[in-house]
Amino acid sequence: MTFQLTETILDTIADSLVENGYIVLSDQIPAEVCQALLGKVQQSEWDDYKDAAIGRGRDQQTNQQIRSDQISWLSPTDTIDNQYLSLMEQLKEGINRRLYMGLFDFESHYAIYQPGAFYQKHIDALPGTRNRILTSVLFLNPDWQEQHEGKLVIFDDKDHELEVRQVAPKFGKWVVFLSERFPHEVLPTTVNRYSIAGWFRVSSSQHGF
Ligand code: OGA
Ligand code: MN
Repeated sequence: MTFQLTETILDTIADSLVENGYIVLSDQIPAEVCQALLGKVQQSEWDDYKDAAIGRGRDQQTNQQIRSDQISWLSPTDTIDNQYLSLMEQLKEGINRRLYMGLFDFESHYAIYQPGAFYQKHIDALPGTRNRILTSVLFLNPDWQEQHEGKLVIFDDKDHELEVRQVAPKFGKWVVFLSERFPHEVLPTTVNRYSIAGWFRVSSSQHGF
């Protein structure tokens, strides 16, 4: 089964990226796909998940003071992961066609935030690189309620102290934003919280040399 992002939704995303730099959508990733992704993350062997790391290569460190989620990378050879990755491929092509962003590849991971887990305010683009250009976060929590907390807070791209949105991590909610511009934070959750965070990158020949 192949799922499609409509041209209309691709137009909406592209327009919002130009106008605001971000968009918060509901129910655009088909519920069947979200359900399959949730099933996978809930049934996964905990062995597949590891403490999330910060930074790259030599600088890479896991720092429980900055983030305390556990992650597992999606793989194109997995049938369920592939349903999501092919939707992200459609997003990539749709955005490149409209905005000439030169998005080249996509990396993404499931994240489990156990009770008490959080991710402090950060910017996704790694310092000194133009690698991560566009961020996508999909939330997979079907019975989310206020007392579960764990909202995603997005800050203003100019005034990094100013909150612009608090997004409840409800099932099927999908946030797309320019990676270099928007600081964001995951507030501590009180229950297991599931999401998929991913990043479109430009090719390494297109940036910094
Ligand atoms: C990230 C991130 C947000 C979320 O992994 O960089 O900001 O809600 N994740 O999972
Ligand atoms: Mn992030």
